[in-house]
Order: sequence, then structure tokens, then C-alpha cells
Amino acid sequence: MGVELAYTNAVARATSGLYARVARVIPQIEWPVHAPLIAEINRLKREKNAVILGHNYMTPEIYHCVSDFTGDSLALAREAARTDADVIVQAGVHFMAETSKILSPEKTVLIPDAKAGCSLAASITGADVRLLRQKHPGLPVVTYVNTSADVKAESDICCTSGNAVRIVEIIAKEFRTDTVIMIPDQYLARNVAAKTGIKVITWAGSCEVHERFTAAEIRAYRAQHPGVTVLAHPECPPEVVAEADFAGSTAAMVGYVGKHHPARVVMITECSMSDNVAVEYPDIEFVRPCNLCPHMKRITLDGILHSLQTMTTEVVIDPSVSARARVAIERMLAVKA
Ligand code: 13P
Ligand code: SF4
Repeated sequence: MGVELAYTNAVARATSGLYARVARVIPQIEWPVHAPLIAEINRLKREKNAVILGHNYMTPEIYHCVSDFTGDSLALAREAARTDADVIVQAGVHFMAETSKILSPEKTVLIPDAKAGCSLAASITGADVRLLRQKHPGLPVVTYVNTSADVKAESDICCTSGNAVRIVEIIAKEFRTDTVIMIPDQYLARNVAAKTGIKVITWAGSCEVHERFTAAEIRAYRAQHPGVTVLAHPECPPEVVAEADFAGSTAAMVGYVGKHHPARVVMITECSMSDNVAVEYPDIEFVRPCNLCPHMKRITLDGILHSLQTMTTEVVIDPSVSARARVAIERMLAVKA
């Protein structure tokens, strides 16, 4: 059942406030393409009692114009557990949609593109975790949320980049150990080990976006843009994090900008982040290196609209896997920020 979507006067009026918000990062010539989709998505959300959870890496028209909640993986997981909507549309990648489904099994959770994966999630299986446990008996397994439900189900506790340090400290204390298994991001694990002094046994996974940044690149930004504040995501290699002024989750980087208001800033992370934050801080100069996440970029307004129209693709998880994965996620959510 096709709906005629055109940039009518009514659509222009209904979306003018949204355009005013994103005008700094979306050229006016593009708005007639986005606006009818935005208006129809927002109408369908009301009709279906749906919410859109938008990750910080979504493009600005998704992030600012159709998302009901935005944030890092941790904030979106908390929101998925809390929402009373009937339908969750995950504007993010597949592991995030799985986390939402695990936390809200009674809700319909949709992912606009089921192929929106993640190089970290693809790097490890549940069977790999069982082998790691056999090799290192008695050690706790801390698993990054960027993993499949199968992997979470084999884990003691999950973490995100926003709480990894605290979770590793807590679990090491609980297990009375100076060593934890922390999977699958070798760089996050090494960055946490450097911060906590706790030894980590890790996995050879990495984020295909963050592993491309180099320490030399950071030094070049400093030389080209004197006084620039460098914020890095902890999925970056340790030598990159060492060059940064601050390392933290996507939400922590946003928080840093809000608190310290640097005159010039560079965010060593996925491209869309700077666009989204620049909307909120017109007086800050954002240096914008661009490393795109091809998985995040599979999520588009067209895809979100199709998802809501057809109620696809629904995330389905084996209930026994889901129940075990939920224990690891809920243990993480019980830890205060
Ligand atoms: P955050 O939890 O920091 O949002 O990170 C998620 C992610 O996929 C980063 O690449
Ligand atoms: Fe995965 Fe990296 Fe993309 Fe985040 S940015 S979803 S970690 S590939």
C-alpha cells in the first residue's frame, strides 16, 4: 500500500521547526527529500505507539528529526528496558536491536536493515567463549555489548564503553582476581587494563572504524588546528587514546563538550557524531575527520519508514539464549554510572 510522499505545503509547515534545528548540517536543497519521510515516520510512530532509539552515529535527519531517544549503547539499552511503547525501532546496528529485544521480550523490536552488523560482533561466537572459559577456568568473562546474544549468554556480565572501567573493577573484586577475560575488543580491553591496572585476557576483535585512526593522525590535527581538544573513543588503539585529551563513550564525549565547551574540538570516532553535536553547539568549531561506519550507515529514513509500514525486520531471539543473555545485561544495568 504505497503512500504518496511529496514535499507539500503542509509537510513544509509541519517540519519547518525540525529544519530550523538541523539547518547548519543539512543543506536546504536536501530538505524536500527528507521532510516527507520525516513527517510520515513521525505519524506512523504515533499510530503504532512506536519509539525510535537513535544511536549517536545516526545521520542528523534521523538523530534530530525522528528519534525519540538518542544516546550511546548504554543509554539506549536503559531506555529499551524502560519504554512503555509497543514497538521499538532500533536506529542503530543489529546487536543494539538484540539488546533491546532481550530487555523487552514482550515488545516488537524492529531493525530497519537486518544486515547492519558490526565488525566486533562478527569476530566471536558463543562457542569461542566456551573455549576461552575452558582455557582460563574460574576467570570472569566481561563482554562488550557489541556482540551477539549467543556471546552475551556465555558471559558473566556485559559492559559498554561508557562503564567498562567500572564493570571490570567490580567484577575483579567480586571474583577476587587480578585478571579478567574481556572480549571481543582488544583495544578497549587494553585501554581498560591501562586505566585499572587489572590484567586482561582478550580476543582479536576490533572496530573497523576506530582501528583506522593513528597516533600520527592525531598529532597532525594538533599541528593543523592549534589548541584543538582531542576526544577519542576507547575502541581506538591505545597509542591513539594516549594522544587524546579525553577518552570515553560517544555519550561521554558529548558530555565533555557540554561541560568544558572547548573552542575547537576533534572527535576521534564515527563521522556523524560531530554533525549531531555541532547542531547543539554552534559556537564550537568541529574539526571533522571522516571514518564512516558502513553498518550504521545502512540505517536510512527510507529504511525506517519501510520498517514501520511493514513491521519488518522483527528481531527474534531463542528464548533460552535470551534469558541467559539478559542476566549478563541486567547485571551491567544494575551498576550505577
Ligand atoms: P558507544 O557505546 O560509545 O555509543 O559505542 C558504540 C559503538 O558501536 C561505537 O563504535
Ligand atoms: Fe561496530 Fe565500529 Fe560500527 Fe560501532 S563503529 S557499530 S563498533 S563497526
